[in-house]
Amino acid sequence: MPHVALANMAKKYGPVICIHLAYNAQDMVFADHGPRWKLLRKLSNLHMLGAKALNDWANVRVRELGHMLQAMYESSCRGQPVVVSEILNYAMANMIGQVILIRRVFVTKGAESNEFKDMVVELMTIAGYFNIGDFIPCISWLDVHGVEKRMKLLHQKFDLLLTKMFEEHKTSAHTRKGKPDFLDVLIDQSERYLTEGERLTTTNIKALLLNLFTAGTDTSSSVIEWALAEMLNDSSILKRLMMKWIKS
Ligand code: HEM
Repeated sequence: MPHVALANMAKKYGPVICIHLAYNAQDMVFADHGPRWKLLRKLSNLHMLGAKALNDWANVRVRELGHMLQAMYESSCRGQPVVVSEILNYAMANMIGQVILIRRVFVTKGAESNEFKDMVVELMTIAGYFNIGDFIPCISWLDVHGVEKRMKLLHQKFDLLLTKMFEEHKTSAHTRKGKPDFLDVLIDQSERYLTEGERLTTTNIKALLLNLFTAGTDTSSSVIEWALAEMLNDSSILKRLMMKWIKS
């Protein structure tokens, strides 16, 4: 998993890679295990990843599953193959996008591409590139593969877009009264509270959003793809699953 590998490398080699991906360690993945990391974790668990939050957002997952099955059905009607890893990635990013931004970031396949989608894809792609400077830090300044340059350019694009989203979100917050998304909660925290001696900055929030998109998309879709492959290889697993479904 790129985010775990990069976090381990950051621990070993210092801030070299943090700068490109994570707003200079202002995020959760690369943060020191101090009060800010605790606060980011607490907020993420409370509003997005914990059991209650997962329950609250269940309808988002059900709807997104519906969109995914519909897209698969349409592909099959057209006699087109379905790229499972791709369609799962779209679904995962859309689920996260709706919890964080009340927005599906990947519109159905074949539709006009949108800016945010392209940037998420680029981020995931570049994060997975081999970069010799990560293994031999003393030559990292050479940026042999141009990874650092591309990351910095992408970072600027993300920053512009996230700043725009922030402003839009602040002005439209009243339309989500009673059902705030995760970004509303984070903005509210940053404006009002000092929790455990920490206040979230705009940079912390932007970096956290990037963490969640990169850490949550490929991991979940790979696990599902792997489970599907196991079931195809061993039909007894598929039968057990079907029995569970029938019983529930
Ligand atoms: C099957 C799916 C997933 C797997 C296998 C997975 C795996 C992992 C692993 C091994 C770590 C490192 C933990 C550690 O160092 O203590 C991690 C961290 C993390 N994951 Fe996941 N993950 C998955 C899904 C997700 C999702 C859906 C999200 C968010 C939407 C997410 C967000 C994060 C974040 C933010 C961290 C850093 C936590 C921290 O620094 O405290 N992950 N994940």
